[in-house]
Amino acid sequence: MSENIAVLGLGLMGSALARTLLDAGHPVTVWNRSAAKADALAAHGATPAATAAAAVGSASLVIVCVLDYAAAREALHDVELDGRVIANLTSGRPAEAREMAAWVAERGGEYVDGGIMAVPQMIGQPGALILYSGSQPAYDRHAQAFAALAEPRFVGTDPGLAPLLDLAMLTGMYGQIAGFLEAAALVSASGYPLADFTTELLAPWLGAMAALQPAWAKEIEAGDYATDVSNLEVNVHGLGAIIRTFHEQGVKADLLVPLRTIIERRVHRGHGAEGLSSLIEELR
Ligand SMILES: NC(=O)c1ccc[n+]([C@@H]2O[C@H](COP(=O)([O-])OP(=O)(O)OC[C@H]3O[C@@H](n4cnc5c(N)ncnc54)[C@H](OP(=O)(O)O)[C@@H]3O)[C@@H](O)[C@H]2O)c1
Repeated sequence: MSENIAVLGLGLMGSALARTLLDAGHPVTVWNRSAAKADALAAHGATPAATAAAAVGSASLVIVCVLDYAAAREALHDVELDGRVIANLTSGRPAEAREMAAWVAERGGEYVDGGIMAVPQMIGQPGALILYSGSQPAYDRHAQAFAALAEPRFVGTDPGLAPLLDLAMLTGMYGQIAGFLEAAALVSASGYPLADFTTELLAPWLGAMAALQPAWAKEIEAGDYATDVSNLEVNVHGLGAIIRTFHEQGVKADLLVPLRTIIERRVHRGHGAEGLSSLIEELR
C-alpha cells in the first residue's frame, strides 16, 4: 500500500529520505526553502511543491527534516495541519520535541518525533535505525512508510523520548571516539601502523568490552556495584600508568584525565572496592 507523503527539507538527509520513499513506491511531494534542491528529486519522480503549505496539503504524512526545530516551525508557520501527521526527523532536544508536539496539536495535527541513527547513505539500507516517539496511533498508521526508511523503533508516547535516546546514543558514540583518538595518538606516536592496530586489535577489543555494558546497566539499576572484574583501586593505577605513558611519549591525555579525576574522587570517598559502574554515582 502506498500513501501520499510530503517531505519538507531537502538537505543531505531530507533528500535521502525522499528518494528512499520514492524507491519504495510512495508518491512523494517535496518542498525545500531554496527551490533548486527539489529539481534532483523531481528527476527521481517526486512532485515539487512551490510552498510548504501546498506540499502539506497533498499528504496525510508530512516528514520534516531541516536544520533545527526553529527551522521546522518556520517551515510549518501558517500551514494548515488539521488531520495531518507531522513526523519531525530534525535533530533536537527533548524539550524542543515536547514544545513542537504541543504546537502541532494546537493546529489540529498529530505529532511523531524521530531520531535518525544513520547517515544519509544508510537510509533504506540494513543497519539504519530511526527512533520514534509521540502519538502511537499516528505512528502505527504510517508504520509501513517508516519501515521503508530504516528499522523503526517506537520508544514511547512522550515526544521527548526519541531525541533523549538519540542524544544518549550519540553520547556513547562520542565516548568511543574520545577513546579511539587517544589510543590513536599514543600508537601513531610510537610508529606502529595505526590502521593495523585499529583493525586487528582495537576494534575487536572494543566489541568485547561493549559486551560488558548490559551487565553494568543491571548493576546500576540495582545499585549494586560489587565487582569480580576489576575494582576502582586497580583502575586508578591502570589509568595512572596510561596517562604517565602519554607524557613519556609526548602526547596529550586531555580526554582521559577527567575520567581519572572522577575515579580518584570515588576512591577517596571510600568506594575503591566497587566496579567501574559505580562511577555513575559521581555523575548523578
Ligand atoms: N546528515 C546526517 O548524517 C544526519 C544524521 C542524523 C540526523 N541528521 C539531522 O537531519 C537534519 C538535516 O540534516 P542534513 O544533513 O540534511 O542538513 P543539510 O544538508 O545542511 O540541510 C539542512 C536543511 O535545512 C533547511 N533549512 C535550514 N534552515 C531553514 C529554515 N529556516 N527554514 C526552512 N528550511 C531550513 C535547508 O534548506 P536550504 O536548502 O534552503 O538551506 C536544508 O534543506 C538535521 O537536524 C540533522 O541533525 C542528519
